[in-house]
Amino acid sequence: MENCTRRTFLSVPAAAMATVGAPAILSAQSPSDTLRVACVGTGNRGTWLLKNVLKVPGVKVVAVCDIIPERVANAAKLVADAGGSAETYADFRKMLDQRKDIDAVVLATPDWTHKDFDIAILEVGKHLYAEKPMALTPADCKAVAAEVKRSGKIAQFGFQLRHDPATNAAEKFIHDGGIGRVLMCHGIRHSGEGLPRTTPWYHDRTKSGDMIVDQGIHILDLFRWAIGGHPLRAYGTGGQNLFKNEPPGRTCMDGYSVIYEYANGVYINFSHHYYDPPAFTGTTENVFGSEGSVDLVKGVWQPREKRGQIKLDIPNSGQDSTYMALASWVDSVKNNKQPINGAESAMETTLQALMGTKAIYEKRVVTWDEMIA
Ligand SMILES: NC(=O)c1ccc[n+]([C@@H]2O[C@H](COP(=O)([O-])OP(=O)(O)OC[C@H]3O[C@@H](n4cnc5c(N)ncnc54)[C@H](O)[C@@H]3O)[C@@H](O)[C@H]2O)c1
Repeated sequence: MENCTRRTFLSVPAAAMATVGAPAILSAQSPSDTLRVACVGTGNRGTWLLKNVLKVPGVKVVAVCDIIPERVANAAKLVADAGGSAETYADFRKMLDQRKDIDAVVLATPDWTHKDFDIAILEVGKHLYAEKPMALTPADCKAVAAEVKRSGKIAQFGFQLRHDPATNAAEKFIHDGGIGRVLMCHGIRHSGEGLPRTTPWYHDRTKSGDMIVDQGIHILDLFRWAIGGHPLRAYGTGGQNLFKNEPPGRTCMDGYSVIYEYANGVYINFSHHYYDPPAFTGTTENVFGSEGSVDLVKGVWQPREKRGQIKLDIPNSGQDSTYMALASWVDSVKNNKQPINGAESAMETTLQALMGTKAIYEKRVVTWDEMIA
């Protein structure tokens, strides 16, 4: 669903790539450097992750797991087509029991499974690339973060847009002081497609955490990264304005707007809905500062008092964010480095998303202190 939209995939051989945020791994590997990976959950997202991790040098996919037989068979075929061989499993705990040689797991099961599956994988000493959100409650986020710390394993969470070349360059420019003091972030994620009708769990807010936690979280993560720290409070409004009970049983919203206040008057203003006509508004992610503003999607900036956008230097321009995220994760595992989207960061971003959702449901201002209490 999200995979091939605005940050598009360009098929460039992995070995030809330089680095964003880390991958020094892209040089030749000796066999002993091989990271033996299992992919769990080979649906929409898991298949894309599998295709990309297969391209990362020094990775061997040795097992694939899904409870739907056709999906796991398709995953095994993708591995075979890439010249490898992966054993298939329906039960990931059995897989972890039987295949002691697995070093690391890429997990892309539905949101409501994340807390238990993340912890189960870390408990048996595997490195982890886990899809977002971290979990669906603050207590569960804390439990996952605690297990990452206890295990000492490298865990990276699915905020791959941090690794998108244009966005990564734009964030670096902000962090280096290019736009002065960050004043506010403005985001729009309007689409006409909505959530996939063929995947019922997305429409059940007890399983997906609803629109902010499942989808808006990506942009909110980038804004939180740009500002630094966490919001102090959130308020907003939203609900089902168009897709009432559609598909039947839907409990997720179809649109909302949320504002997050940070320290020193800095704030985020974010609008997200599913009733955009084709190519009408789409997605924008802008960060405004005292000296100028940055477009995180395009990787351009503009001084505050001048006309005309200036292109930033974008290493690896055009490379796919998911490939870059996985390559960076492998590099972190091999060199024992903390990912830029590790547990602490993923927890704060997920809490931020849960905070906005709570504010909308309860029609009140929700504070950060409530979320971490
Ligand atoms: N980072 C991104 O841009 C992005 C994009 C899309 C989805 N996602 C995330 O990826 C995850 C999967 O989303 P999706 O769209 O692929 O959903 P999906 O329903 O298409 O895929 C989930 C897969 O997990 C499998 N599964 C469920 N329980 C399992 C179990 N116990 N053991 C093994 N497999 C099991 C399902 O059979 C299914 O094939 C979600 O957490 C979602 O939020 C992230």
